Amino acid sequence: MAAVFYALNMPLSKVLLTDRSGKEMYWNHNSAYYSWIKKTVTNCTNILDVGCGEGSLVRFLDDGNKKTTGIDVDGPCIEKAKALSKSDKEEFLCCDFEEYTTEKVFDAIIFVASIHHMDMVKAIEIAKSLLSPGGKLIIVGLSKPSSLLDWIIEIGRVIPSKIISTVNNIQNSEELNVPVSYELPKMDEVRSTVKRLLPGAGIRYGLHYRYLLVWNKTGN
Ligand SMILES: C[S@@+](CC[C@H](N)C(=O)[O-])C[C@H]1O[C@@H](n2cnc3c(N)ncnc32)[C@H](O)[C@@H]1O
Repeated sequence: MAAVFYALNMPLSKVLLTDRSGKEMYWNHNSAYYSWIKKTVTNCTNILDVGCGEGSLVRFLDDGNKKTTGIDVDGPCIEKAKALSKSDKEEFLCCDFEEYTTEKVFDAIIFVASIHHMDMVKAIEIAKSLLSPGGKLIIVGLSKPSSLLDWIIEIGRVIPSKIISTVNNIQNSEELNVPVSYELPKMDEVRSTVKRLLPGAGIRYGLHYRYLLVWNKTGN
């Protein structure tokens, strides 16, 4: 079993996530992808986190150089995010992304477990319009399996995900009072939307019931 974890690069020991001040952050099926996101946005300086909850990803990405804006429609989440923020590089706004307008453009826009709360087509179109040329759209999303392969992967990840969650003392979004939705799109709907709106973006399966994708904006 240990060899399987090793081959799949799944850490068996506790994963330590810390913010810039060295403060340890909670682990769950969303923050499990924060290190991957941080690597993906290494060269980005102006970032938008859509559906930021209580701002954990914004704090995690803050390296003192990047400017990150977190937006969320939930007032208490944004109040908590503002209270926890200790940096002028972090900004939090309470608003519905589907109504968000700004003069700013971003070189990375991130959705972690939030796009299924919205109209996916509308959210992607808005995000594309807010990205600078060369910018990245990053989605860590939830969906229901639709093909046989989806089901095999869904079932195959139950035990390893459970073990890693136990090792890392999982704290679910519900425990953090962050709104969740289990009304999920089917994976084949996600695939066809991505193919149509984000050509060239490959979808990967994550271990913790998420799909991952990065799309690079080429033109205007
Ligand atoms: C499951 S939480 C994800 C939290 C966070 N991204 C994380 O990494 O844990 C989904 C978040 O999306 C927010 N949300 C839902 N609909 C939204 C909308 N239309 N505009 C902005 N935020 C929204 C919810 O309030 C909630 O905080």
